Amino acid sequence: MHSMVEISHEFLKPVLHPQAICVDGTFGTGKDSVFFLNQKVKKVIAFEIQKEAIDACTITDPRFILNPAGHENMDEYIQEEIDAIIFNFGYCPGLDPSISTKWQTSCTAVKKGLSLLKQKGRMALVLYPHEQGRIEAEKIESMLSELDVYKYSILKMNLLNQDKSPYIIGIEKREK
Ligand SMILES: C[S@@+](CC[C@H](N)C(=O)[O-])C[C@H]1O[C@@H](n2cnc3c(N)ncnc32)[C@H](O)[C@@H]1O
Repeated sequence: MHSMVEISHEFLKPVLHPQAICVDGTFGTGKDSVFFLNQKVKKVIAFEIQKEAIDACTITDPRFILNPAGHENMDEYIQEEIDAIIFNFGYCPGLDPSISTKWQTSCTAVKKGLSLLKQKGRMALVLYPHEQGRIEAEKIESMLSELDVYKYSILKMNLLNQDKSPYIIGIEKREK
């Protein structure tokens, strides 16, 4: 079976096209940004706060912009409506494990991302409900469960037979 990250990419694929504007909210080692670029989209805007990750970035594609900034401030960097956005929460294996996403800024970023999405645009969240990420996953879910069903369709996909496995939330904006 595909990994949760691969499944999150499959969820986003239907909204990717040559004019699509995409956002990678948690750049890390850049796998999600590379996925978007490989789908021949128009532009990929990424965010990352970890210097080591920013310095290690080797993507030179002119369609790509890496903002050394927190995703919670994305509205200061993005002027256009967006087609697709991904967040892969938690810390990045291979980088500094002490630099992890935090529920407060993650919730702000998800809200801002939703308001920047076009009608029919999609957001994918990959969450890790282990010790460190449990509260973050709970807070994000609780915020999303309050959203108007006529504005957003929200699905959750997890492994039923594995405790605390990573899981995905996929959101489609139904109306502006
Ligand atoms: C699970 S990793 C992302 C994995 C990444 N998508 C990849 O393909 O390697 C989470 C990343 O979010 C970054 N991060 C933490 N807080 C952030 C914030 N407020 N804004 C942007 N990035 C943040 C961390 O530095 C870390 O690299």
